[in-house]
Amino acid sequence: MTSPARILVVFGTRPEAIKLFPLVAALKADPRFVPVVCVSAQHRQMLDQVLEIAGIVPDHDLDLMRPDQCLDALTAALLTELGKVMDSEKPDRVVVQGDTATAMAGALAAYYRKIPVDHVEAGLRSGNIYHPWPEEVNRKIIGAIASLHFAPTEVSAAALLAENVPASRVHVTGNTVIDALEWVTARIAADPSLAAGLAELERRFAGKRIIGVTTHRRENFGGGMEAIAEAIRQIAARTDVAVIFPVHLNPNVRAVMNDALAGLDNVALIEPLDYPHFARLLSVADIMLTDSGGVQEEAPALGKPVLVMRETTERPEGVTAGTARLVGTETAVIVTELFKLLDDKAAYESMARAHNPFGDGQSARRIVELVAHEIGSQA
Ligand code: UD1
Ligand code: UDP
Repeated sequence: MTSPARILVVFGTRPEAIKLFPLVAALKADPRFVPVVCVSAQHRQMLDQVLEIAGIVPDHDLDLMRPDQCLDALTAALLTELGKVMDSEKPDRVVVQGDTATAMAGALAAYYRKIPVDHVEAGLRSGNIYHPWPEEVNRKIIGAIASLHFAPTEVSAAALLAENVPASRVHVTGNTVIDALEWVTARIAADPSLAAGLAELERRFAGKRIIGVTTHRRENFGGGMEAIAEAIRQIAARTDVAVIFPVHLNPNVRAVMNDALAGLDNVALIEPLDYPHFARLLSVADIMLTDSGGVQEEAPALGKPVLVMRETTERPEGVTAGTARLVGTETAVIVTELFKLLDDKAAYESMARAHNPFGDGQSARRIVELVAHEIGSQA
């Protein structure tokens, strides 16, 4: 019998942890693999929230987050430290997810050692290297390196083929975020206390339409964040509306939102929620207002209208399915589009239909089989 393959799974931020914990679990459960988990901790508290609920104890924790970290120092540290882990662990393959600095540096460090890289959530493209920034270039770099490209949808697979990635290397697997969402939903159903921490806000805002907000995109820092804050202030001036806004820990987000929104009766500015509580927020919200990638995938799966505060999206599937709408970052447009949904029942209902363009909850299982097949074909 051949010995199990050592798979180094590298991640560092909240969304990567959410999208990779189903894969780590699937690898752990499979005797063909020995997963080794390395977290960069590019995020600290927001990563730890996910590690805890998912029950993952990393084999390596690089603890690289620094306050208000800049991209060049972060990337340099990631490359050096991830390289050392690869030298000591000598994995057969490295898995990265998405388009963060950790994912890009993980792929590059593996490439420097000629270790094959498998890319989860491959092929997302906006076509604009500054939207989202720096993620569009991060994922193109990973795409240039990857051995196997796990595209969540046909749209992302087509983007890779258009860049001349051989079709045999591209697999449509669905997005593991749907695996994660289904898992956490089942956990909450079995144990509602996991998401009971929102109960007080739910009572306080009973009878109001709930708007769930998240925002963190670097390209929106400065004027974009201020315009978003002003839109939220205008929205919350309505007495029939309440805003629940778990504020990202990036200081560029917090400072603006605290200055503009602290103390407003209808706005709850709260700390980042752990995943069960965020899933609860998704289920009690009438509308999500976000610039997040992951929330654009989760909201359609739950039939929640989602207004996306970006100029472009690399996830057009939610827009095509009718659950997501791009509203940009101009105050007046955000407010107008949100009021339309609040006041026009037909407009709301046409968006509030559950679709699952992003997956069926089986993505991690498919990825494991594809990696096993790849290893088998090389043996
Ligand atoms: C990062 C990713 C982005 C991803 C986002 C998800 C890069 C370049 N950016 O953006 O692609 O969409 O995560 O949220 O990879 N902070 C804390 N505690 C935390 C997390 C962050 O204090 O748990 C603060 C720190 O001051 C840190 C700053 O936020 O320096 C920025 O974190 P960073 O990972 O560089 O960027 P994000 O904006 O979170
Ligand atoms: N999320 C969470 N708690 C929060 C806000 C978001 O658990 O307070 C989850 C959300 O369900 C989604 C992911 O974090 O799965 C999105 O992360 P983020 O918006 O930070 O990054 P992006 O997806 O834009 O890269």
